[in-house]
Amino acid sequence: MPLIELKNIHKRFGSQVVLDGLNLSIERGESVVVIGASGSGKSVMLKHIVGLLRPDDGEVWFDGRRTDGLQERHLVEMRKRFGFLFQMGALFDSMTCLENIAFPLVEHTRRSRADIELIAREKLAMVGLPEVGPKMPAQLSGGQRKRVALARAIALEPEVILYDEPTTGLDPIRSDVINELILKLTRELQVTSIVVTHDMASAFKVGKRIVMLYHGRLIFDGTPDQARASGDENLRRFIAGEATDEELGPLLLPGVRRGMKSVE
Ligand SMILES: Nc1ncnc2c1ncn2[C@@H]1O[C@H](COP(=O)(O)OP(=O)(O)OP(=O)(O)O)[C@@H](O)[C@H]1O
Ligand SMILES: [Mg+2]
Repeated sequence: MPLIELKNIHKRFGSQVVLDGLNLSIERGESVVVIGASGSGKSVMLKHIVGLLRPDDGEVWFDGRRTDGLQERHLVEMRKRFGFLFQMGALFDSMTCLENIAFPLVEHTRRSRADIELIAREKLAMVGLPEVGPKMPAQLSGGQRKRVALARAIALEPEVILYDEPTTGLDPIRSDVINELILKLTRELQVTSIVVTHDMASAFKVGKRIVMLYHGRLIFDGTPDQARASGDENLRRFIAGEATDEELGPLLLPGVRRGMKSVE
């Protein structure tokens, strides 16, 4: 039985169709990378998995239970089994890093203060930032903030970690630190990971399985090697970072050739 299953999910906002019969099933312990253009519905898909959005049609299953119709209080219970690194990765500005990580433990467990502090420190060490506990988020770099947010996401020792663009805005070296961290957490905590990314270096590094969303459906599901070898035009262009003429639109002025550099 898959741990997570999306069955024929349809979701629209007003007249805009975002998910259009999406099917995806994920086994326990898998690490799956989700790629797709901006606006293709990747974040919306993640929100369906944790019940932050409900489908107009279709079914969401988690660990043998249908979840799309659950009441909020049951969803809150379910979400404790997930770590969610949001795209906007917001930490609470008015709390220290250690307090940020302790927050879900204070909210959702009855552990003692001392215990909670110990766990929060352990998570900070796990993301390689044992010294930043007393600092405020504003004192950290973007990459460090992502790592603290990740430490917070794993505070409750989730079974599943959802990463929404964990490397966006980071330089290649900092991105690789995050990639290694994702691999390490998948290995050491035996979690199931879903990583949404635009970053193909990251996709090929962390995903044993890559899926691509296009117009609200999956158009590819396979290994990184299969992705590289795929004849699908949309996937090939995504990997190569090539826009179509239509996407370039007004940039294609008469007489300007694609890829032409201006010469002073
Ligand atoms: N709560 C909402 N209300 C209305 N429209 C929404 C809502 N959430 C998402 N959308 C729309 O659904 C589409 C898909 O959004 P989504 O955030 O899933 O894209 P994405 O694939 O994650 O893109 P990106 O790579 O830029 O993060 C977008 O056009 C977005 O404007
Ligand atoms: Mg998104």
